[in-house]
Amino acid sequence: ATERTLSIIKPDATRRDLTGKINAMIEGAGLKIIAQRRIRLTREQAEGFYDVHRERPFFGSLCDFMTSGPVVVQVLEGDDAVVRYREVMGKTNPAEADEGTIRKAFAESIEANSVHGSDSPENAANEIAYFFATVDIVG
Ligand code: CMP
Repeated sequence: ATERTLSIIKPDATRRDLTGKINAMIEGAGLKIIAQRRIRLTREQAEGFYDVHRERPFFGSLCDFMTSGPVVVQVLEGDDAVVRYREVMGKTNPAEADEGTIRKAFAESIEANSVHGSDSPENAANEIAYFFATVDIVG
């Protein structure tokens, strides 16, 4: 079924000017970029976005990293977009990511792993609403 998912191109990737190359991989996988904005996350936005990870040991460092430079927030649409994008991203830990995935190609570490993608359609709806108004999503 046609789905939407939230993608974030992270500061390690914007710092190296990889937005275009990552977008080419996204589009090459059959996912349409139907909304996109380059922003600087505030501490509050980063902590709120990753609230489910608040008790994890990496939470503080993750929020430092996510506010260390610009990010590109995007809405992707396509057939089974949530799972499809997770396949395109590869495993969270780039050391475990398959060839041909964004994280294998570009990620620097398990934290600076270049991209985020929603892990379920339910979370996708919440994450999309966190950054985008309906009027700014043009499918
Ligand atoms: P993301 O898919 O955005 O979800 C949580 C993020 O936390 C993850 O990608 C990484 O950027 C970061 N992170 C740092 N350390 C870990 C870890 N040990 N396990 C999972 N995520 C981690």
